[in-house]
Amino acid sequence: MEPIKVGLLGFGTVGSGTFNVLRRNQEEIGRRAGRGIEITRIAVRNPAKAQKVLVDPLRTVTLTSDFTSVVNDPSLDIIAEMIGGTNIARELVLQAIQNGKHIVTANKALLAVHGTEIFEAARARGVIVAFEAAVAGGIPIIKALREGLTANRIQYIAGIINGTTNFILSEMCERGLDFATALADAQRLGYAEADPSFDIEGVDAAHKATIMAAIAFGVPVQFDRAYVEGITQLHTLDIRYAEELGYRIKLLGIVRRTIQGIELRVHPTLIPAKRLIANVQGAMNAVLVYGDAVGATLYYGKGAGAEPTASAVIADLVDIARLHTVDPNNRVPHLAFQPDRLASTPILPIDEITSSYYLRLRVVDQIGVLSDITRILAALDVSIDALLQKESEFSDKGQISETIIILITHETLEKNINEVISRIEALSTVRSSVTRLRMEALN
Ligand code: NDP
Ligand code: HSE
Repeated sequence: MEPIKVGLLGFGTVGSGTFNVLRRNQEEIGRRAGRGIEITRIAVRNPAKAQKVLVDPLRTVTLTSDFTSVVNDPSLDIIAEMIGGTNIARELVLQAIQNGKHIVTANKALLAVHGTEIFEAARARGVIVAFEAAVAGGIPIIKALREGLTANRIQYIAGIINGTTNFILSEMCERGLDFATALADAQRLGYAEADPSFDIEGVDAAHKATIMAAIAFGVPVQFDRAYVEGITQLHTLDIRYAEELGYRIKLLGIVRRTIQGIELRVHPTLIPAKRLIANVQGAMNAVLVYGDAVGATLYYGKGAGAEPTASAVIADLVDIARLHTVDPNNRVPHLAFQPDRLASTPILPIDEITSSYYLRLRVVDQIGVLSDITRILAALDVSIDALLQKESEFSDKGQISETIIILITHETLEKNINEVISRIEALSTVRSSVTRLRMEALN
């Protein structure tokens, strides 16, 4: 059988990794796919630059700076979009779909923001949009959610799904590196997005959580409803106190089914240090999925980098090589659920979510302070799980003795905690704004 022909858009970390792994393992991959998979054209902004890193001794690949000519090339069956972003990538993907080409993409931003439009265009044209690499790099989490766990009502997913931020947090904790140095290392190693603020502000993780929520619960992709908080406001002090209390702070993507609706949120989260997922370090990712039948399942592996991501991209290429002749109505739906059976379950605003909380505040060390605070908590029906008072010290002005208090609450609605915080901050004995972090038991 003729090899299936692929046009590659972009030849950066993931594009070049895909090309290299496909070349290296082509014989084995062909035996699995039932036919060869060949990248024959690559579009890049600067072909001369790409030529220097392209290992193609037999000159079977043509490089071009004309991206449109690749998506319009009738000899190509699949377009692998490895550019990133939501502008040119969207235009080229939609054009390729119109031309009847199957798509493989690692671009979570594109799918989280424009997924509804892209999947609908693909459905109308009968082509596949495959995106295993878009979530958790080399971990086959999309396959697991869409196919392996299809019997289950998924209850929740909690994942370390951004390698860059997990790498930064690990380097800061274990090697004492400062934030900027750790970020620069993540960029040098090819983990970070072109705009690294997407990583450190939690946006990349929210793109991935959005895609997982859609597949887990059968709802449209709704990135604009996600709650997003990154690690830039995280204090090393809280990382230290969390450790003292037996917790570790991770940037988690959380999607959860509740009676009221779906929680879709990304934020730094305290998790018990003894949980497996709390011990996921460096650029590694881990995704904990809880299904009603299977219980808890945990998926672990490299979430970023050239070859781990290529592993997922090539798995999609193999799937398409095997499945593209199947009647489109008999393929696994893009979002796991039949497109006409997607639900309109609401995504809850953040103040409607339920969590337990870590609160840190600085107070004047005098009689009655703690009882004022506990009265506020009781008035709002928030119960305390643990309370820690650090040793007293004199304030900057040297007159008044102050102390740091850390409170851990039981589960409550976020809007109750917001009210607790504003009442506590109004006390004259409270000398700082309250630092609030959410907690997950994950048991
Ligand atoms: P890189 O920046 O390394 O590569 C992007 C490629 O696209 C480069 O060839 C770049 O050209 C080209 N490109 C960028 N912008 C444009 C543009 N406006 N017009 C034309 N070409 C452009 O990115 P990655 O390989 O890291 O990421 C690619 C995709 O894979 C992204 O969607 C990313 O989110 C996703 N991804 C990345 C992972 C990783 O570990 N890096 C893991 C999982 C997914 P030039 O070289 O000229 O800049
Ligand atoms: N920037 C992303 C990360 C790449 O650090 O996880 C993988 O999606």
